[in-house]
Order: sequence, then C-alpha cells, then structure tokens
Amino acid sequence: MTGPVPQAADAFVRQHGYAPTGVWSAPGRVNLIGEHTDYNEGLALPIALPHRAAVATAPRADGLLSVATVNWCTDVAGSGGRSWLLTSPPVAVADLAPGVREGWATYPLGVAWVLRDAAAAGPVLTAGGGADLVIASDVPIGAGLSSSHAVQCATALALLGLAGHEPGKPDSPPLAEVARWVQLAENEFAGVPTGLLDQTASLCCQASHALLLDVRAGSIEQIPFAPMDDGLRLLAIDTQTRHSLGHSAYRERRAGCEAAAAALGVTALRDVPTSWFDDAGEEQSRLEDVDPAHRPLVRHVVTENDRVTRTVRALRAGRLDEIGPLLTASHESLRCDYRVSCTELDVAVEAALGAGALGARMTGGGFGGSAIALVDSNRTDEVRHAVDAAYSERGWRSARVFEVEPSAGAGRDR
Ligand code: GLA
Repeated sequence: MTGPVPQAADAFVRQHGYAPTGVWSAPGRVNLIGEHTDYNEGLALPIALPHRAAVATAPRADGLLSVATVNWCTDVAGSGGRSWLLTSPPVAVADLAPGVREGWATYPLGVAWVLRDAAAAGPVLTAGGGADLVIASDVPIGAGLSSSHAVQCATALALLGLAGHEPGKPDSPPLAEVARWVQLAENEFAGVPTGLLDQTASLCCQASHALLLDVRAGSIEQIPFAPMDDGLRLLAIDTQTRHSLGHSAYRERRAGCEAAAAALGVTALRDVPTSWFDDAGEEQSRLEDVDPAHRPLVRHVVTENDRVTRTVRALRAGRLDEIGPLLTASHESLRCDYRVSCTELDVAVEAALGAGALGARMTGGGFGGSAIALVDSNRTDEVRHAVDAAYSERGWRSARVFEVEPSAGAGRDR
C-alpha cells in the first residue's frame, strides 16, 4: 500500500486488530513569501504540499491515549522503502501535561492535551475516554516543510472527528480556532514559540491556491496560484541540512522584533509604515530609538509584508512571472537583514537563479531546511543540475529537488 492514508489505516489494523473509526490527514507546507512576519502580526502566503501526515484513530473507553507512528525510509517520490512501527507507552488522558513524553510523541500528545482543556472544543477528550492513534507521513522530516505541524493538524482533526466535529459544519469549531489550539500545543507542550503560519497553512490551504494569511486581522483568503497553467513550476530544494542554532535564533529574532516594537511604541512591527524605508535618511531618524542591532529586523518585517502584498497583486492580475524578483528580494532580506539563512540555502538559491529560475528564496524558519525556486517548465532540469553541481563541487550531500503543486489542506480521508 502506498501513501500515508492507507499506511496509517493498515498499520492501525496490524497494531490493534480492528479497523480505525476514521483516517484524517494534513499536509506540510512551503511558504511562497512572507517569512518571519506571522509573529509580527503580519502577512504570509503559504501553499500546502502534496505530502501529508495521516492519523488513523478509534476511541477507547479506559481513559488512555496510545500513539504509534509508521517510520519509513523512502525518497520524496515515494517509491519503495522499508517501514516499521514506533510506539510510545499509553498515557492517561488525565495525566497529559507538558513534559509527560519527549520526542515525536510530544506532537500528537500536545494536541490532545490542548483539546482536553479547550472548553470551546466541548468534551473532545475526557478523563474517562481515550483514543488510539496511528500516524503515517510522507512529509520530509527536518526539511523545514512543517512535518510536525502536519502531524499536529491531522491529530487535531482526528480527535475532533471522534467527538463528532467536522470542520465547516455549523456546530464545529472553525479551522482558524483549530489552528490556534495547535499553536498552543506547539508553544506550551513542545516548547517552541512559533507563530500561526504553519498550522493555518496545513488546515486551510486549498489546491491550486496560495493562502493569504493576515494574522492581525485573523483573516485568510484563497488566492488562485497554479504555476503549471502558466508554463511554470515551483521547485522545492531540500538542502538536507538543519543547523542546531535554529531554535535559539528563532527566539532571539522574535524577542528582537518585540523589543523594537516596544521602542517604537507600536503593538507589533506590522504597524510600521513601509514609507519609512523609501529613503535611507528618513529610515535612520525614525529608527533612532531602536537598538541598532534590531533595526535590520524592522526593515525585513516591514519590507516583507509589502512584498507579500505585491505578490498577491501580481497573482490576482495573472502576472506570475512578476513574483520572481519579489521571491529573490525576500531571500536577500532574510539573508542580510534578518540573518536566518545559511550557506547551503544561499548556494541553492544562487545556483537556481544562475540556471535561469525566475526567483528563488529560502522558505520557513531558516538555518537549513528548504528553498523554493519558480522556474520555467522547460528549465527544471537545468536548475536541478545546477543545484547538484554546486553541492557536489563543495563536497556536500546532494540536495533533494522536487516539484510542488499547491495542494489541498487537511481533511477526512476515510
Ligand atoms: C517557522 C514557524 C512559523 C514562522 C516561520 C517563519 O516555520 O513555525 O510560525 O514564523 O518559521 O516565517
């Protein structure tokens, strides 16, 4: 059986000896543009990947929650491989609390913990009830493509589904609310202070669309985006590197933005007007009160929000080729001002641009993970080869390059 949905269902039967009540799945994401803007109450424009995490589940009546995950080795194209089941000892629903488990199990258990206590979710998980969960995923792990958020979002829908909730139905919690619960699980249970981008993308994206997320307004909008129809392709370039600096640097950047907003007397950097950056002299005087180390952070956030707006305008006008330079400018801003890129990402971006990509940038939090490149359909091989050559020249493990099509968000599969 191929694909995470049949894999999760099949593994569930093997593990528990009966069929799951249902299977829910949620995708990973790439962010087209709008990076490190979500926790500044700004704008982002992600798409969902075709790669998904699936959760097969059934209720149990002994107050326990069991989680297991199918691990498998395969390539991104999904061919062949070997699989085995990793299980985590069952936990009493009543005992769910941060720190109760470590590693991969924190993702599904954190979501269960939030849902147990979220009054607005109704009685999803009670001390007397419980559930068995079996997870399977083909979202590349550690590639900055939100594999953990895919697991969390699929878990949230699965547990809500067992309680009779179906997002979109009148009495069920809206997906935006589910995204906030998943964020809470990530922040409080897994202890990572991330924003709302990844969860919202995984839950709310639609096929052939990018999702315009406005964090301050709490709104989402579907923006048609089907590069294939315009003779283009979006490539993801997984550098297969992740620098350990990532989490602490994320916290530092976030704290830097908050300090800059406080120094400027605004609620969030979202409030700083783009016009401050039109002229260097004006920028200098306006940012006088901000710690000099934080000024480039402000410039990145403000100009990045503007690039999202311009990207959306170009997409709405059907001028896809115009977004290339905006993607590349975003990378430069993340590299020079926000300083969250790394050599492997820069080399991937340079190689793609050198081989004729219309635009390229790192995507996600940075310090490794993946880049994206918007490429003419007949240039994809050239870009692949250029990235390969650049990596092998430096003696690096090769990057994994694959096409991504804007795909569907989370939902019930069985
Ligand atoms: C990570 C976080 C997101 C967002 C991005 C950067 O993916 O999980 O909330 O901040 O980094 O845009």
